[in-house]
Amino acid sequence: MTRTIEAWRWSAAEVAARVRHGEISATEVARSALGRLEAVNPKLNAVVEHRPDEIMAQARALDDAIAHGDPVGVLAGVPVTTKVNIDQAGYATTNGLKSQRELVARSSSPVADSLLNAGGVLLGRTNTPAFSYRWFTSNQLHGTTRNPHDARLTLLDALRDALGLAGTKKGCDQGACGACTVIIEGQRVLSCLTLAAACDGQQIVTIEGLIKAEELHPMQAAFLHCDGFQCGYCTPGQRSSRPSAPFKRSTRASPVTSRQTFDKRSAARH
Ligand code: FES
Repeated sequence: MTRTIEAWRWSAAEVAARVRHGEISATEVARSALGRLEAVNPKLNAVVEHRPDEIMAQARALDDAIAHGDPVGVLAGVPVTTKVNIDQAGYATTNGLKSQRELVARSSSPVADSLLNAGGVLLGRTNTPAFSYRWFTSNQLHGTTRNPHDARLTLLDALRDALGLAGTKKGCDQGACGACTVIIEGQRVLSCLTLAAACDGQQIVTIEGLIKAEELHPMQAAFLHCDGFQCGYCTPGQRSSRPSAPFKRSTRASPVTSRQTFDKRSAARH
């Protein structure tokens, strides 16, 4: 009878330890990972190619090695994926491009080889932005990979719609204009190209957070002094776009995390 286990929930270290010690077979782990992949991947489109027969063959080979007392490496039985921009023998290195859909690798890159040599089971090939350029994983060959937590929510939408911090502006919504610039951990970031889920636990400073008490940030004062507002719509992004030396004082001073803070400072955001 086949055991039903949820090994896909375990950490890599736990899987490897249990496989090495014979508590579970690599075949069972692979079966669990495949089941999870087939259950959720149709919605997410994260893995764009996988070959169940090859996966199970890798796992069986590992189990045989363990049964013979052969060394199996630190990743024994751990399911891992490779992106379609990494050569893996027998698979196309598409890089998300239609023109490379037939570009099948004749040998594996050191990355894929190292994973295999360490006992990993190569579960499938994951998507990448075309040319692996840009933040969001979407291309004309494989389609869009979706956020498992919320398929739509960017940091920009989370700030504006979920938190009511409307000082961060939505201009192009595709990374071209800079109106949505915020400061994350001291670095300027385009929030329209950043998934909200990727910012968990990080300090985010929006334009509302640049004022300390009643004192304008030097960049805001400079905009006022030089009459640099233009139409005013993009100026919050422009004022947030220098997170290095001149902005360090303010990024420490006042991260904006609540509607109350937003309300208090809203009069100064334009
Ligand atoms: S809204 Fe234009 S770069 Fe984000």
